[in-house]
Amino acid sequence: MKILLVLYSAGEHAKDEEKLLGCIENELGIRKWIESQGHELVTTSDKEGADSELDKHIVDAEVVITTPFHPGYISRERIAKAKNLKLCVTAGVGSDHVDLNAANERKITVCEVTGSNVQSVAEHVVMTILVLVRNFVPAHEQVMAGDWNVAAVAKDSYDVEGKVVGTVGIGRIGYRVLQRLKPFGLKEMLYFDYQALPKHLEEELGVRRVESLEEMLAQCDIVTINCPLHESTKGLFNKELISKMKKGAWLVNTARGAICVEQDVADAVASGQLRGYGGDVWFPQPAPKDHPWRTMRNKYGAGNAMTPHISGTSLDAQMRYAEGTKNILDSYFSGRFDYRPEDVIVINGDYATKAYGQRK
Ligand code: NAI
Repeated sequence: MKILLVLYSAGEHAKDEEKLLGCIENELGIRKWIESQGHELVTTSDKEGADSELDKHIVDAEVVITTPFHPGYISRERIAKAKNLKLCVTAGVGSDHVDLNAANERKITVCEVTGSNVQSVAEHVVMTILVLVRNFVPAHEQVMAGDWNVAAVAKDSYDVEGKVVGTVGIGRIGYRVLQRLKPFGLKEMLYFDYQALPKHLEEELGVRRVESLEEMLAQCDIVTINCPLHESTKGLFNKELISKMKKGAWLVNTARGAICVEQDVADAVASGQLRGYGGDVWFPQPAPKDHPWRTMRNKYGAGNAMTPHISGTSLDAQMRYAEGTKNILDSYFSGRFDYRPEDVIVINGDYATKAYGQRK
């Protein structure tokens, strides 16, 4: 059986770090094991355009593995060409790079390694909130440039304490973000999600559910997006929704770039409707050189805490999602198909998880 693995190329960075598993050089550490099972592994980072290696090999691959960090976009067109494709594995969390409706029509199973990097992302969200609210980036750039101007940075620097924070989605990541923020002494913590947290968890965390997204946004100084990308969240944060946010709020998005309309976010940062925006997710990935989020700034020359897609790919996370990928493959190769239920996104032509089921 042919297994196609799409990962980024690490080049020189792979040489000094064998724990960097999520790259073509280290192949999630699974080549020997796959070959020992009698299967063929083809690894590539070349994923764009009709002549790409991905397009060439998807034609007869039975399994495709990719990460959200360097996603091989498994579009409807590619699925139509992939006559043997039975299983798509996301080495990480978030399978929106696969056209799930098209996968269902062909009864292709899509699995991801649920929970494998949720702590990593939650830490990154807390960091990004602090970086934005405290105005860290311009302060750091200043010292690196040999300058010293406290006022230039202090005029746009605040405390997290006493602010209202809200999460869009309180699943594994959203919950962990609030858990980690709690000791900061926020004025209030709010959430908007189709699924309510059990009452005892709401109380333990000290969080309040708000039934309407607009109503929540109007109260928040800080908003963190932690829901999947699906048909009803694509382009959700557009000009109109951002205009319902408190003026001068900070917005952090480590969920998926396409949940926000790129130019509307950049315009909101420039106009002051948003004081700042940060996160690590873009569309497409890698982000084009002229993507507005690379250079957007607020009127103080601040308000940008963007990074490449790194939050869920710490070396600790890579170990977890590499192991989870191997477990999914083992379950498939052996014919047991005993996947962890929480790893299954679509199977037998239908959505398995509630989060993605919102697409329907
Ligand atoms: P999860 O499935 O545990 O939680 C998602 C929550 O979002 C669920 O409670 C669901 O009910 C809720 N939800 C779905 N649609 C919603 C909507 N329209 N409005 C409000 N809530 C909605 O997922 P988890 O592990 O917390 O991950 C969330 C997302 O974060 C993933 O789907 C992925 O896109 C992204 N992610 C990003 C990573 C990164 O490296 N930046 C790494 C891991 C995940």
